[in-house]
Amino acid sequence: MLLELSHLDISYKGSEYPTVQDVSLTLEKGEILAIVGESGSGKTTVIRAILNCLPRGGTISKGSMLFEGKDMMRLSADGWRKLRGKDISMIFQDSGNMMNPVQTIGRQYIEYIRTHSNMSKQQAYDLAVEKLVMMNLPNPENIMSSYVFEISGGMRQRVGIAMAITFQPKLLLADEPTSALDVTTQAQIIGELMFITRGTGASMIIVTHNLGVASYLSDTLMVMAAGRVVEYGKTQEIVGHPKAEYTKGLLASVPAIGGKRYV
Ligand SMILES: Nc1ncnc2c1ncn2[C@@H]1O[C@H](COP(=O)(O)OP(=O)(O)O)[C@@H](O)[C@H]1O
Ligand SMILES: [Mg+2]
Repeated sequence: MLLELSHLDISYKGSEYPTVQDVSLTLEKGEILAIVGESGSGKTTVIRAILNCLPRGGTISKGSMLFEGKDMMRLSADGWRKLRGKDISMIFQDSGNMMNPVQTIGRQYIEYIRTHSNMSKQQAYDLAVEKLVMMNLPNPENIMSSYVFEISGGMRQRVGIAMAITFQPKLLLADEPTSALDVTTQAQIIGELMFITRGTGASMIIVTHNLGVASYLSDTLMVMAAGRVVEYGKTQEIVGHPKAEYTKGLLASVPAIGGKRYV
């Protein structure tokens, strides 16, 4: 077992009840879990708790989290630093936002690699280029010398994913990684994410609004509403035989194209 969350409550300062209540999940090596649910249902909160990067005022108020059997709640700041980037890494909705606009992508990427390893600049450069190539970015040397604003949204997202997979993490956390992109680019990047996770044996938790994406890509599915898990299990079973009324509603709202439902 790679990751195990048991009966997690997550609270934000000032709110009377925990925002997220009683979330449990398990993730095996290589497993892809998709979390779906309406806006505000607590998806981002759960995924950020796993990386111990809740926004200010957010805390895990109950429950436990184990990574490879080890209690994550007892990790020191140093322990978290070692885990982050190397064993667990995050792909954000818009990687461009996370980058410095006045430094080249290469400089930031090399710095990122060197904070997590003791590579030389040249080694870091070579590794970065290798990962950019893996993400199907043409002219990686060109990208290394570009600024964030000089490349498209899809390319920025590929750079963000390249950075996240630099150290071949065991767990990738992706919070709506393609929702800022056009449909074609979305499909390409989802395909690439799947290729990478399946190819390296990494596990992934992906938050998505898109039930079609979730069912295409995931082994297991978690449906959240109002801070709680309403349904959790094998994706194909849930899509084929949803139990919760809420899930039935979600599935019914997926558009039909040419008489074929797109999940
Ligand atoms: N920094 C914060 N401080 C207080 N409440 C927050 C904060 N971030 C999110 N929340 C609350 O937590 C709930 C869940 O938010 P979120 O996890 O972002 O949902 P989702 O990702 O499913 O849209 C929302 O109702 C939101 O108001
Ligand atoms: Mg969110």
